[in-house]
Amino acid sequence: MHTIATLNSMKARGEKIASVTAYDYCSAFAASEVGIELILVGDSLGMVIHGHDSSLPVTIHDMAYHMRCVKRGNNKALLMADLPFMSYYCESKSLENAAVLMREGAQMVKLEGGAWLAESTRLLTERGIPVCAHMGLTPQSVNHLGGYRVQGRDPEKRQAIIDEALVLQDAGACIILIECVPEALGEELTRALDVPVIGIGAGSATDGQILVWHDLLGLYPGKKAKFVKNFLEGTTGGIQGALAEYVRQVKSGEFPDAKHSYA
Ligand code: KIV
Repeated sequence: MHTIATLNSMKARGEKIASVTAYDYCSAFAASEVGIELILVGDSLGMVIHGHDSSLPVTIHDMAYHMRCVKRGNNKALLMADLPFMSYYCESKSLENAAVLMREGAQMVKLEGGAWLAESTRLLTERGIPVCAHMGLTPQSVNHLGGYRVQGRDPEKRQAIIDEALVLQDAGACIILIECVPEALGEELTRALDVPVIGIGAGSATDGQILVWHDLLGLYPGKKAKFVKNFLEGTTGGIQGALAEYVRQVKSGEFPDAKHSYA
């Protein structure tokens, strides 16, 4: 069974961490069988499962339901679940809602934001709930960000992301997930932090990569981000083959290449 200690020692050894989202029994089973170390029950389910145009409508009850399904299919991966929009607006809410997901089988929770999450991160960590902080493009803030855009392009914003990640690491965050930033920022962040940095659209230098299940298999009909790659295309062996190829390309550093990264 993979744990946070597994991910820490992978970072120390320079071995890339392969991660994917899953929302049900079969996808969790397939991902864990193929050697994925970290499964995220992501609130992206609002878009790829429920068909909303953002993750904002997702509730803690939705997350609990999908967490329960994934837990039954998983054998080896570390299980992380998203706290959905407005479920962690204050420290006590974050504790209450993280407990719901942990009772369903999550082994850690993910929150979106920067330094303002420090108190919740500390509180959860002290109460035995490991925390991943999701930074860069934070989809729950899509309205504030003005769309799904690359973050951290200007020097001030780039420095702010690094400084706030350090604050969250000090508060106890044991993974930083960084989405949709220039490759150089992904690299700098990975060097600056002791904890594993998992990237999505953050270049190949991060300690690991994550993709949304439906993007990895080319199933989502909506607009595709630059970092999305369909691993079903050009591989044999169906879904298992595509997942295995994703793991291989993450481990070898072939994915993401320049075509799937932001310069
Ligand atoms: O909800 C999700 O699937 C995520 C990924 C984009 C990392 O947070």
